[in-house]
Amino acid sequence: MNFIARSCWVSAPLYALVGMGFGIWMSASGQHQFSPAHAHLNLLGFVSMALFGAYYTLVPTAASSLLARVQVISMHAGAVLMFPGVIMAINGTGDGLAKAGSLLAIISMLLFAFIAFRTNEPARA
Ligand code: HEM
Ligand code: HEM
Repeated sequence: MNFIARSCWVSAPLYALVGMGFGIWMSASGQHQFSPAHAHLNLLGFVSMALFGAYYTLVPTAASSLLARVQVISMHAGAVLMFPGVIMAINGTGDGLAKAGSLLAIISMLLFAFIAFRTNEPARA
């Protein structure tokens, strides 16, 4: 398996473990107000990363470009910044990190759309 796909598959469950751990803490402590931080760590980190991994496994040509690395790294940075950023925004201690994380996440998704659009290769069986 190519490096990009493998890095996505390996990191996705790590995000899920942190996100689920945070979910258990939210339940146990009754701090449900942080649900958007939990939701987005799981959805950007685990779900999106796993889907990128699936795509780059099925379409290895798309994984070989520098742009694919930039795309995946942007989503890592977005997910990692959005988690504390959303917590800070909910606590009213600033929304700069959340904004930066959101911007990186959307740039990553735009790049992914572009990569998927320009790669005209039949998927591996
Ligand atoms: C150990 C596993 C998990 C625990 C203990 C947990 C716990 C929670 C809790 C306590 C909430 C807040 C519920 C509320 O107040 O309405 C929540 C919301 C949410 N969780 Fe989890 N969660 C877990 C795993 C996951 C996973 C794996 C995902 C996604 C792949 C996920 C996605 C979400 C989403 C999207 C919300 C927001 C739902 C809404 O606003 O209606 N969770 N979770
Ligand atoms: C640039 C990236 C994103 C931004 C800035 C963003 C922003 C937001 C905001 C502001 C909310 C409302 C939170 C609230 O008022 O409680 C929300 C909720 C939600 N978003 Fe996102 N989102 C992003 C990406 C995504 C993605 C990629 C997914 C799914 C794959 C997703 C799924 C959800 C879900 C399920 C909720 C409801 C969760 C809750 O209420 O706790 N979001 N999002």
